[in-house]
Amino acid sequence: MPDESIRLTIEGTTALITVDRPKALNALNTATLDQLEDALTRVAARPELRGLIVTGAGEKAFVAGADIAEMMNLTTEQALAFGARGHRVFDALERLPCPTLAAVNGFALGGGCELALACDLIYAAENARFGLPEVSLGVIPGFGGTQRLTRLVGRARAKELIFTGDMIDAARAKQIGLALEVVPAAQLLDHCRAVIARITKKGPLAVARAKRVIVDGADRPLAEANELERDAFAGLFPSADRREGMSAFLEKRPAAFRGV
Ligand code: CAA
Repeated sequence: MPDESIRLTIEGTTALITVDRPKALNALNTATLDQLEDALTRVAARPELRGLIVTGAGEKAFVAGADIAEMMNLTTEQALAFGARGHRVFDALERLPCPTLAAVNGFALGGGCELALACDLIYAAENARFGLPEVSLGVIPGFGGTQRLTRLVGRARAKELIFTGDMIDAARAKQIGLALEVVPAAQLLDHCRAVIARITKKGPLAVARAKRVIVDGADRPLAEANELERDAFAGLFPSADRREGMSAFLEKRPAAFRGV
């Protein structure tokens, strides 16, 4: 039985996934990726969940990357399979219907930075450190970093980080648009919970549809992406929540959304 290095806890309508591999600063090996995939499947199977927070155990690391010891002797075929596994798991994270928040509580390097990038929103503790240092190891980011970082912060910033392998602090991560906010470490999870609480007051079908359109539209030409938006907008009109939201506005009362 492999060590459990992923913890899934449910707090009301919020899920919390904690990567907990203290001996390797929460680095992701195959077993951890498999456990993460299993946890994401369990979250996806519970439509009542309105948000997911991903964080690392301890005070030092979010996730310090893919596991270098495991990668040391991989053949090309094994490296392909390892990369494919990471992509599959992070794609599943990106495609979860509910909003996902990375609570970056320390080092988010390599695969750890890529894990945060697969979340919708990144919040950083003051001690967070971000980086894609793979070129220091003779490789490149392998779990989506070259693509997701580029799309988030732009080509030049992404190239600078990836070519130099430099680590940046939380304030710099916020400055370049990688992290949304920087908060004291002790308040990081509560900050994320408060963001989810604000989202939870809104229509869950609408939030999930907005997320899907943003994710699916990101790589399409504008006209095609706008078609996705048009269809999703209209597709919400038969929902009870749409009727409730508009009625509540007209009747000057808070809406009571039910997710249907
Ligand atoms: N893989 C495996 N083990 C790791 C690890 C990783 N990514 N990061 C840290 N560890 C281990 C260390 O080997 C060490 O183990 P031992 O105690 O058994 O020696 C333990 O965690 C503590 O680490 P350090 O002693 O190095 O702690 P530090 O405070 O001196 O430094 C650090 C912290 C700067 C984060 C440093 O550990 C570090 O640089 N880690 C590697 C970061 C990295 O290169 N990440 C990218 C990995 S490649 C990747 O992710 C590819 C991809 O895209 C898929």
